[in-house]
Amino acid sequence: MDSAVSPKVHLAIIGAGGISAEHAQGILANPGLAECVALCDVSDENLQKRNEQLGGGCRLFHDWRTMLAELGDGLDAVDICLPHHLHAPAITDVARAGKDVLCEKPLCTTLAEADRLVEVVRETGVLYQSAHNQLFMPCVVEAKKRIVAGEIGEVRWLRSQDCFVNPVTVLKDKWRASLKTQGGGELIDTGYHPTYRLLHLAGSEVVGVRASMARFTQPIEGEDTASVQVRFASGAIGEILTSWSMNNPHGSHQIHVAGSTGQLWGSHHTLWLLPDGEKEPRQIDLEPVQTIPAQVGDFVRRVRSRERPLHSVEEGRTVLDVIVRATTDADGWQALAKPL
Ligand SMILES: NC(=O)c1ccc[n+]([C@@H]2O[C@H](COP(=O)([O-])OP(=O)(O)OC[C@H]3O[C@@H](n4cnc5c(N)ncnc54)[C@H](O)[C@@H]3O)[C@@H](O)[C@H]2O)c1
Repeated sequence: MDSAVSPKVHLAIIGAGGISAEHAQGILANPGLAECVALCDVSDENLQKRNEQLGGGCRLFHDWRTMLAELGDGLDAVDICLPHHLHAPAITDVARAGKDVLCEKPLCTTLAEADRLVEVVRETGVLYQSAHNQLFMPCVVEAKKRIVAGEIGEVRWLRSQDCFVNPVTVLKDKWRASLKTQGGGELIDTGYHPTYRLLHLAGSEVVGVRASMARFTQPIEGEDTASVQVRFASGAIGEILTSWSMNNPHGSHQIHVAGSTGQLWGSHHTLWLLPDGEKEPRQIDLEPVQTIPAQVGDFVRRVRSRERPLHSVEEGRTVLDVIVRATTDADGWQALAKPL
């Protein structure tokens, strides 16, 4: 896109369901920078609802290939908010049409697809951003800054959690209940967040993954709870706990990093720092951030500046790799009891 010709990034959203409302908020929060010109969904109801939220001026489509062909140069970038099994074909078509991509997690559902997507993004030269919105969570941003600044020394152990109780009616008979359309269970969905947070905070390559999985309450084919251990090339070890069947004691999102000279832990916009030798942790209060709209703003700025996103297609693939290895280590879903 030539920003001298087009001052705004012209976007389309594919998948106008639940989470696209927050993506739309991100577009509306950047009126001078971004405009949603089209929506694509197979559901007329969702198309209407999202179009209304966006002011009513979007062109509406049922098929993304038709949308890409009809809009042509009138489109700069596409925001994909589809069920998981449709990520790979949508990313491929959008990139081949020469449009930049922001795509919800997961990158896709298999490593073979992920390898092809890495190639497609490289071949086409489009800018690809993995929608890893919790990288914009204030406690994660602040913890990373302090780790890089050496405030807790060498990272030795990390924990990243995302747990909440999902009402059992939410997933029953929906695309998230099926291995085919979800690509797995909880870990490839909500569990993607604590996984990319863990990798980001560790700042080192993954060299080993072990896991145990369970299905306690949810009527789905995959797991609803995963406990994953990750070993890093740096020597650090990490743990992910993620669940749709239990809550965390304080808030659904949690991080904790222990270093050679201190520790950091927190949730949302509160971080705690305990340097070795001190008895009382220091509380660090941060400005709250709505992470999905913040990420959409970051994406449109990068579409203009052409600066690589913090997590592009390669990082999306690495996160999926950890999840696939965790699932394999836990003997896959065969180890679970029959669906409830
Ligand atoms: N970052 C987060 O915190 C977060 C939260 C929820 C969902 N998500 C992710 O967002 C994505 C969408 O999840 P959701 O909860 O919004 O799901 P959803 O079911 O609410 O929305 C999906 C939409 O895609 C549409 N759709 C299905 N097939 C289509 C097709 N062939 N062409 C066009 N549209 C089609 C559906 O009609 C629906 O409107 C998933 O990748 C999910 O993991 C992320």
